[in-house]
Amino acid sequence: METVRVALMGGGTVGSAFAQLLPAHRSRFRALDVEVELTRVLVRDTQKSRPGIPARLLTNNPKGFLEDVDVLVEVAGGTTLAGDLVLQALEMGLPVVTANKALLAERWGELREYAEEGSLYYEASVMAGTPILGALQSLWGNQTLEVHGIVNGTCSYLIRRMEEGATYDQAFQEAEQLGYLEADPNLDVGGIDSAHKICVLGRLTVDPGLSWNKVLQRTRGIQHLTPELLQQARAEGHAIKLVASLYPEQGEWVAAVRPVRLPESHPLVSMGSGRNALVYRGDPVGQLVFAGAGAGGDVTASAVLGDLYRLLLGAPGHLPIPDSVPTPQQPLEQLEEV
Ligand code: NAP
Ligand code: HSE
Repeated sequence: METVRVALMGGGTVGSAFAQLLPAHRSRFRALDVEVELTRVLVRDTQKSRPGIPARLLTNNPKGFLEDVDVLVEVAGGTTLAGDLVLQALEMGLPVVTANKALLAERWGELREYAEEGSLYYEASVMAGTPILGALQSLWGNQTLEVHGIVNGTCSYLIRRMEEGATYDQAFQEAEQLGYLEADPNLDVGGIDSAHKICVLGRLTVDPGLSWNKVLQRTRGIQHLTPELLQQARAEGHAIKLVASLYPEQGEWVAAVRPVRLPESHPLVSMGSGRNALVYRGDPVGQLVFAGAGAGGDVTASAVLGDLYRLLLGAPGHLPIPDSVPTPQQPLEQLEEV
C-alpha cells in the first residue's frame, strides 16, 4: 500500500469541503492500493475552526510547507503566494491540483511548460463540479467554431434572483452564504472571473498562447444591470446573461466577456438559469451543451477530488491544445451586447 501525502493550501470554502469529502473515499483509494493522507493545511488564521480539518494540521507558515509531501492541492486563490508555492511545487517535481483560475490565466507564462508536461490538474477551475475541461479535451478531434458560456456562478445567481424580484443586495448576500463569491467579489461582478475562465478554456481549445491581457481588454461585468432591466428583457421574451465567448474575428481567435441579450429559447437561457452552462460548436460534432453547478464548496471539491483520482491512476493533468486551431471565416452567432 502506497501512501500519498497531500499538502493542502487553503482551508476555506473549497479546502474545508475537500477535507470533509476525503474520508468517504478511503476504501476506494485502498482498492487502488493507496492511502491518501492530509499532511498539513496552509491558512492565514490557524485559530479558526474548520470543518473536516484537524487543528493539528494547520499552519500559517509557507516555509517547509512542501517538505515530505507527494502532491500540492491549492485552493487558496490569488496569484501571489499561491502562484509562488504552485511553481515551487512544480519545480520540485510535485504534481499540483488547483481550482485557481486567476493564477492559471495570469501566470500562464510560468505555468505553461508544467501544464504541457501534464503535471497540472485544474478541472475545478472552470465550471467547478461540471467537468468541462475533460469534455473540451475530448473534442480535439473537431474543428472548433465557437464557444459561448455562462461560467460565473455568482453572476448567474444574481441575475436569476433579480429576475425573480430580489434586490441586488439580497441576492448578493444569498450568493455569499452559498459560498459562490471570490475573496474579492469585484472579480465576479466585474466579469474578471469569467475572463479568467474563458482564458483557461481558450488555451485548452483553440490557442495555447492566448493572451490574458487581450482577454481582459474585452471584458465587461454586470454592475450596470438592474432588476428592472432584467425583468423588462424577460417581459419581451429575452434574458440578459453574462456570457464569455471564444470566436473568430478578422482571422484571430478572440475571447470576450460581456452581458448579452438572448432569446429565451437559447440553450444558455434554458440550461443556465442560476447556474453555469456552455455551448460548444464544432465540426463535425455540431452543437453540444453542458450545464450544471458552477460554484460552491462541495461541487468544487468534488472536481478537486476527481483530479486526485486522475493523478492516482497515472493520467496526466489538463494539457493545453498543442497548437493554434485554424480560425473560421466568421462566427456562427452574433450576440447582442447590453
Ligand atoms: P476562501 O473560502 O476564501 O478560502 C481561501 C483559503 O485560503 C482560506 O482558508 C485562507 O485562509 C487561505 N488563504 C488565502 N490566502 C492565503 C495566504 N496568503 N496564506 C495562507 N492561506 C491563505 O476561498 P474558496 O471559495 O475556498 O476558493 C478557493 C479557490 O478556489 C480560489 O482560487 C477560487 O477561485 C477557487 N474556486 C472557488 C469556487 C467556489 O465556489 N468557492 C469554485 C471554483 C473555484 P484563512 O481561512 O485563514 O483566511
Ligand atoms: N466565484 C466563482 C463563481 C466561483 O461565482 O463562479 C466558481 O469559480
